[in-house]
Amino acid sequence: MANLFVRKSIAALKAEAAEAGEHTLKRSLSAINLTALGIGAIIGAGIFVLTGTTAALHAGPAVTLSFVMAGITCALAGLCYAEMASTVPIAGSAYAYSYATMGEFVAWIIGWDLVLEYALGAVTVAVGWSGYVVSFLGKTLGVHIPEAFAAAPYKYDIATGAVTKIPGAVVNLPAMIIILLVTMLLVVGIEESAKANAVVVALKVGIVIIFIVAGISYVNTANWVTDANPGGSYIPPNIGPKQFGWDGIMAGAAKVFFAYIGFDAVSTAAQEAKNPQKDMPKGILGSLALCTVLYVLVAFVLTGVVKYNTLNVPDPIAVGIDAIGMNWLSPLVKMGAIAGLSSVILVMLLGQSRVFFSMSKDGLLPDFVSKVHPRFRTPYLITIVTGMIVMVAAGLAPIDLVGELVSIGTLFAFALVCVGVMVLRVTDPNIERPFKTPLVWVTAPLGAIFSVYLMAQLPGDTWIRLIVWMGLGFLIYFLYGVRKSRIAQTNAKAG
Ligand code: ALA
Repeated sequence: MANLFVRKSIAALKAEAAEAGEHTLKRSLSAINLTALGIGAIIGAGIFVLTGTTAALHAGPAVTLSFVMAGITCALAGLCYAEMASTVPIAGSAYAYSYATMGEFVAWIIGWDLVLEYALGAVTVAVGWSGYVVSFLGKTLGVHIPEAFAAAPYKYDIATGAVTKIPGAVVNLPAMIIILLVTMLLVVGIEESAKANAVVVALKVGIVIIFIVAGISYVNTANWVTDANPGGSYIPPNIGPKQFGWDGIMAGAAKVFFAYIGFDAVSTAAQEAKNPQKDMPKGILGSLALCTVLYVLVAFVLTGVVKYNTLNVPDPIAVGIDAIGMNWLSPLVKMGAIAGLSSVILVMLLGQSRVFFSMSKDGLLPDFVSKVHPRFRTPYLITIVTGMIVMVAAGLAPIDLVGELVSIGTLFAFALVCVGVMVLRVTDPNIERPFKTPLVWVTAPLGAIFSVYLMAQLPGDTWIRLIVWMGLGFLIYFLYGVRKSRIAQTNAKAG
C-alpha cells in the first residue's frame, strides 16, 4: 500500500517518452494531423443532434450561450491539457500526468474514469452513427434495414430506472459493423488512421460550413425573439427547473458539452507525435477554437431559420435545411454526419487504447496490453480487445443509460487535470514547460470549478452511475494494481 500516493518522477516519464525502437509506437503525426484528430473527435453527434433538442427543451435561441458556456469550460481545461501534454508527452497523457502529480491511486482513478469518455463515448457515437445510416439508407436510397437488426434489444426508462426488452429487436448491427471497421483501421497503423481521419474531417467541416453559409441569408431574426416575450428577449423566460431562462442555459451547457468532447483525446497520442512539445498545444487548442466558432455559428443559423420549439427531433439540421428549401443539401448533411461520426469513433478508440497502453507499462494492467505489433507499431492486442468489448456494448446496450455518463466522466477528468497542473507547478516549479497555461492560478481553478459546476447540472442517476463505476475501479485497483504496479514491484524487491 506504500505505493498508493507515490508519484512517478517527471524524469522517468520524459525518459519513457524518449524511448525508441521496435517496441515503441511510431512517431508520425504533425501539428496538422493532431489538429485534424482533434476536429475528427469533436464534430459529431453533439452538433448534429443536441443543438436542436437543447434549444427546444432547455435554452431556446440562447442555446448559443449554452455553447459559449461549455466552450469556455473546455477552453480553460484545454489550456491546462496543453501544458500537461507538452510537459509530459507520453501516450495516454492525462493518466500519465496524474501519476506524476498526484500519485498512483489518483492516476488509476483518472485512467479508469477515461474509459467512460473514450470507450463509452465510442459506444454512444456508434449508436448515433447507426441511426443516421439506417435513416440515410431507408429515406435516401430506399434500402431498408430490418428493424430487428437496427436497434439494441433493451431500453432504459429514465423515469422509472427500469431496463426492459424491446419486442422484436435483436441487435444493433450497423453500430457493431462500424466499430469493427474502425478497429481494423486502428490496428493497421497510426498513419493510415490519421489519413482516413483527415479525409473525413475535410468532408464534415465542409458540410458544416456549407450549412452556415447557405443558411445565413435565410435567418429571420423574429425567430430569435421568443413568443413568450415578444418585447425582444433572446432568452425565453424560465418556466420550470432547467427549462429556459439562465437555469435552462446552464442545463443546456451541460447537455451540449458532449459536442466538445474529444479535443483532449489529442493528448493521448503524444507518443505518436513527431514534435509533441510544440505540436500538442497547437492540436488541442487549434481544434477546440475552430469547433467552438463553428458550433456557435451553426446554433445561430439553425435557431434563426426555424423556431426553436420545432427542433426537438433526431435530425434538427435537416429540419433547418427543409425550412430553407435546399433539399439537395439534406443527403449531403446526412453523409457528413455519417462520416463525421465515424472519425469520432476512430479517435475515441485510439485514445482508449493509448490510455490502456500507458497503464499497462506501469503495471496497473496486464503486460499483453502494451504489446506493440512488430510491423504496424500499434498496440494491436488492446486495440482488438477494446474494439470487441465496445462492439458488443454498441450492439446490445440501452443507449439512454450511457450518454450523459460520457459527459460526467469527461468533466471529472477535466477537473482532475486542472488540479494536477497546479500541483505540479508547486511540486516541480523548475521543470521545462514548453507550453505554460496563461494565468495558471486563475485559469486552472476556474477550469476545475466550471467543470464541477457542469457536472452538478447533470441528473442524480448519472452521478450514481459515475460513483458505481468508480467503485468498481477501486475494487480492481485494490485486487490487482496495488500489488502489480511497477512501483509496488520495485518497492517489494527493495524491501
Ligand atoms: N464530440 C463528439 C460528438 O459530438 C463526442 O459526437
